[in-house]
Amino acid sequence: MKVPFVDLRTQYYQIKDEILSSLEMVCENTSFILGPFVQRFEKNFSKYVGVKHCIGLNSGTSANYLSVKAIIQPGDEVITVPNTFIATTEAITAAGGKPVFVDIEEDSYNMDPEKIEAAITKKTRAIVPVHLYGQPADMDPILEIAKRYNLFVIEDAAQAHGAKYKEQNVGSIGDIAAFSFYPGKNLGAYGEAGALTTNSDEIADYARKFRDHGSREKYVHEIEGFNMRMEGFQGAVLDIKLKYLENWNDARRRNAAYYCELLKDVDNVILPREMPYARHVYHLFVVRVKERERLQQFLKDKGIATGFHYKYPLHLQKAYQYLGYKEGDFPVTEKVMKEIISLPMYPELHREQIEYVVDSIRDFYRCK
Ligand SMILES: Cc1ncc(COP(=O)(O)O)c(C=O)c1O
Repeated sequence: MKVPFVDLRTQYYQIKDEILSSLEMVCENTSFILGPFVQRFEKNFSKYVGVKHCIGLNSGTSANYLSVKAIIQPGDEVITVPNTFIATTEAITAAGGKPVFVDIEEDSYNMDPEKIEAAITKKTRAIVPVHLYGQPADMDPILEIAKRYNLFVIEDAAQAHGAKYKEQNVGSIGDIAAFSFYPGKNLGAYGEAGALTTNSDEIADYARKFRDHGSREKYVHEIEGFNMRMEGFQGAVLDIKLKYLENWNDARRRNAAYYCELLKDVDNVILPREMPYARHVYHLFVVRVKERERLQQFLKDKGIATGFHYKYPLHLQKAYQYLGYKEGDFPVTEKVMKEIISLPMYPELHREQIEYVVDSIRDFYRCK
C-alpha cells in the first residue's frame, strides 16, 4: 500500500467542477490580480476568522513580513520560538528586527509563556507565538504579558486555519495574524498565497497599501511598499475551499483520534496532546519516537511518506549563527526536535491507510 504524506489530487477531484468553473470566470473577467474574487475571499475569510480585516497576499511569508513590518522600528526585538519554519524569523529580520527565541512547552510544543518575561528587554516590541502543527499556543498568558509590557502580539497562524483557543478562532486573538495558504495547508491555494488578519483599521490600511507598492490609487504612492498582491486564481480557489474547511478539519481530527487509539499502547511512541484550551486542527500529526531516522527509512520502504517538522531548531541553524545562540540554550526544543516525526495526515486519509501506518510502526519496534 502507498500512503503519501499529503494527497492534494483526491481533494481536487472532489471539487473539480466548482474549481474549474470558478477559474474560468477569473479568465472571463480577466481578474488576474486582486479584483472581485480576491475581495470575496477576503470578506468571507475575515468573517470566518472573526476579524474586521483580511488582506490577501502572495504568500504566508509575505503575511509574516507585513505583520512585523507594520509595527516595528529597525533594531526592535521580536520574541518567538526556535521550533518553527524559518519564514517566521526571516520576516522579523527582513522587517529590520532581531529574532529573540524562547523555549517551548514539552506537551503542546508551543511557546512556553513562562519563558517570555526573561527575554524581554527595552528593545522588545512584539511576541510571535506560532500555532504549530494546528494547535493554538496558550494565548491568555501571552496576551497578559504583552499588555503588561506594552507589546504587540502577532499570531503565526500558517498551520492553524480553523483552530480555536477557548472557542475563539486563531487569527482573531492577537493584534495581527499571518496565514499561509501554501497548497498542503488545511486551507491551501493552487499556488502561493497568504493573508494578514487584524481588527486594527490602521494596520489593515498600511498592509493594503504596502502590498500594492504603497498605493491606494494607481501610480500614487503614499509609502514605499512592495508587490505582495494575491492573484485572482488563488482568491477564487480559496473562496471555494473555505466552504469545506470545517468538514476537512473534522476529518483531520477523526484521523488523529484513530491514530491515537491505535497507537496508544505502543511504548516507543509519544502521541500529540490536545491541550484543554485547544481545538487542534492537525495540520500535521506529529509523534515522538526513538530512532526516528531509521523509522523513517523503514516506513519509506513500505511506501509510507513521513517528514520532520522541523529537522533542526532555528537557533542551531547556520543561518542564525550570527545571533550567538548555542546548543543547550533551549533544552525542551532541542530534545523534542530530535524525536519528532510527522505521519501522513490529510482529510481524505482512509482508515485502512492509518491502520497500515500503525501496523508498520509496530513492526519496526517489534523487529528490532
Ligand atoms: C509556521 C509557518 N510560518 C510561515 C510559513 C510561510 O508560509 P508560505 O510558505 O506560504 O510563505 C509557513 C509555511 O510553511 C509556516 O509553516
